[in-house]
Amino acid sequence: MESGEPFSEQFQDFYFSTDGGLQETEYVFLKQNGFPQRFNKPESTILRIGETGFGTGLNFLVTAYHFLHAAHLNCTLEYTAIEKYPLSKAQLEQVYCTFKKTWPQLALCCSELLQSYPENFDHIENHFRFKLFNGKICLNLLIDDATAGLKQLLSCASKEDNNEKKIDAWYLDGFAPAKNPDMWQQDLFEALANLSHTGTTISTFTSAGIVRRGLIEAGFNMSKAPGLGKKREILFGVKK
Ligand SMILES: C[S@@+](CC[C@H](N)C(=O)[O-])C[C@H]1O[C@@H](n2cnc3c(N)ncnc32)[C@H](O)[C@@H]1O
Repeated sequence: MESGEPFSEQFQDFYFSTDGGLQETEYVFLKQNGFPQRFNKPESTILRIGETGFGTGLNFLVTAYHFLHAAHLNCTLEYTAIEKYPLSKAQLEQVYCTFKKTWPQLALCCSELLQSYPENFDHIENHFRFKLFNGKICLNLLIDDATAGLKQLLSCASKEDNNEKKIDAWYLDGFAPAKNPDMWQQDLFEALANLSHTGTTISTFTSAGIVRRGLIEAGFNMSKAPGLGKKREILFGVKK
């Protein structure tokens, strides 16, 4: 964390590509899900994005930045992220100092998020809801294992019997399957599918066979796209 390039000792991996993290987020997660063009749809009043592995929030910040610039006046963003090992506010402040220097366009979004981010996480509360930018963007942060968190969302959605609350686009992040095999299980893919509607899009930085096959089995049509930098291929898809 000291060099400004967040690294997880636990997973022995960087949080995002140290070689152009913002560009990687824009390419892997926004572009493969049709953003920012898809933000400007007058008919959709709430756009719901779901993410596994919130980490430093870089994917969220980049999405918020583009959404604020491209979205139709009537459109709001509901961004739901699940994170098992949340960074502390102090860690985030340190990371955002680097973000602000490297990507000054994200400065406003960094400050807005930091104002709401909890000082500490305890074991009592695991669902935080932050209304940002006067309610234009709402961030739901679930502190949980990705699959367990998705199942919690699913049980809330079915209690409310509200199909409209399904996610429109998924950012499937998390450390690489080889370094984090516990997360990339069929249960996760099924839960993603159950929270999706026909036409929900999904993308991920990995092209691992277990992820591609798992998502296909769960009901997504998956394709490969060329990767950026050292990455040869990534995956994107759409729910049937
Ligand atoms: C590659 S980093 C995510 C990068 C992040 N999107 C960002 O912008 O910083 C992977 C994240 O997934 C989280 N993670 C790992 N295993 C998880 C699990 N089983 N459930 C939820 N989150 C998990 C890690 O703690 C880490 O924050």
